[in-house]
Amino acid sequence: MNNFSYRNSTQIHFGQGQIAKIRDEMPANARVLITYGGGSIKKNGVMEQVHAALEGVTYFEFGGIEPNPHFETLMKAVDVIKQENINFILAVGGGSVIDGSKFIAAAALYPNDPWEIIQTYGSKVTQAVPLGCVLTLAATGSEMNNGAVITKAATQDKLFFFSEHVYPKFSVLDPTTTYSLPPRQIANGVVDSFVHIVEQYVTYPVNAKVQDRLAEGLLLNIVEDGPKALENPTDYDIRANLMWTATMALNGLLSTGVPADWATHLIGQEITGLYGLDHAQTLAIVIPAVWTYKQSAKKEKLLQYAERVWGMTDGDEDARVVAVIEKTRQFFEQMGVKTRLSDYGLDRSVIPSVVAKLKEHGHVQLGEKADITPDDVTAILELAL
Ligand code: NZQ
Ligand code: ZN
Repeated sequence: MNNFSYRNSTQIHFGQGQIAKIRDEMPANARVLITYGGGSIKKNGVMEQVHAALEGVTYFEFGGIEPNPHFETLMKAVDVIKQENINFILAVGGGSVIDGSKFIAAAALYPNDPWEIIQTYGSKVTQAVPLGCVLTLAATGSEMNNGAVITKAATQDKLFFFSEHVYPKFSVLDPTTTYSLPPRQIANGVVDSFVHIVEQYVTYPVNAKVQDRLAEGLLLNIVEDGPKALENPTDYDIRANLMWTATMALNGLLSTGVPADWATHLIGQEITGLYGLDHAQTLAIVIPAVWTYKQSAKKEKLLQYAERVWGMTDGDEDARVVAVIEKTRQFFEQMGVKTRLSDYGLDRSVIPSVVAKLKEHGHVQLGEKADITPDDVTAILELAL
C-alpha cells in the first residue's frame, strides 16, 4: 500500500426525517441561501421540509441550477450572496446543485475572476462561504467530498476544482428524497457510483486489502440493489444502501494509498461538455473501451474483479478478462444506460473534437500510469463507436 494522508470534514445525517436536523446546524445570525435545480424539490415535498426546518431563520432562494451546472448561472447566485450578505449556503438537490453551490461558495469570496478557480483546479482558493447539503440523487459523492465539476457554456469547457474549503459542513442523506427520481436518473446514479469505485480499484495491485475489499463490497451492493431500485423505487432499504454506497464510493477513502485511473472520467467530461450527454452515459460508453484497450496492464485487477464481484473463475485468463468487460457492459445496459457512442447519435467524426478538448485542457497523460496519450484516446474512442 502507498503512503497516504486522509481527512474528511463532512458531518453526515443519514435517514428518513433527518432534514429537520438542518435547524441545529445553522450558525447564529444565519442568512441562508437555499440553492436548487429545476424544481424537482418543489414537487416531491423536499422544499417543504427544508422550509419547515428553517422556520424563524432568514433565508433566500436561488433556483435554476441546471444539470452540468453552468458558470454563467452560478455567477448570478454569487451576486445574490453579495447583495444579501449571505453567510450560509444550503444546496438542495443532486450533484449538479451541490457542485454548483461549492463553486458559488468559493467564487463569492474570491478576489480575482472566479473562472481562475477552475483554471487553477482550486489551488488558490483560501476561503469559502460555509455550505450544507440535502442530497436528492445518489450518484456523485459530492455530498461528502471537496470536488466540483463546472461547465462554461460559452466555450463548452467542463472542468473541475478541489478545495478543502468546500467540504460540506454537513449533508443530509434521506433515502426517501430519492423516491421521485425518474428511471434514467436512478440508472445514472448506479452507473456513476459503480464507475467511481472501479476507477479507484481496477488499476494494478498494491496489496491494499482494506481498499480492495471495501471496493468489492460496494460493487456487490450496487450489482445486487441497482436493478432492484428500478423495479421497486420506493423500497427504503434498497435506496438507503445505494445512497450510502454512492457516498462511500467517492469520499476519498477508497483512493487512499492506491493508484487511481480516472481516464474514463476525464474523457467522459469532454463528451458531456461538447455533446451534452449525461455524465453517467459517457462513463458507460468509455470504460469498457478503456478496459479493452488497457487489458494487459489491468489484467491482475480485472481478474480479481471478475472473481470477487462476478464469481467468474473458469477458463483461460485472457478470455475471462474479455468476458468480465462484457459483463460490466451488460450490467450498464441492464440498468438502461447504453454503452456505445452510436447509441447516442455520435459517430467517428466526434473523436477529433474530444481529443482536441483534452489537449486544450492539458489532459494528455491519463490513467493510473499516466501513459494514455491523445493518440491512445483516439484508439479508445474507436473501440466505443
Ligand atoms: O434540477 P432538478 O429539477 O432538481 O432535477 C434534477 C436533474 O434534472 C433531477 N433530480 C435530482 N434529484 C431528484 C431529481 N428528480 C426527481 N427527484 C429527485 N429526488 O435529476 C436531474 C439530474 O441531476 P444532477 O444533479 O445533474 O445529477 P447528478 O447527481 O448525477 O450530478 C451530475 C453532475 O455531477 C458531476 C457531473 O459531472 C455532473 O455535472 N460530478 C460531480 C462529482 C463530484 N463533485 O465529486 C464527481 C462525479 O464524477 C461527477 O463528475
Ligand atoms: Zn462520476
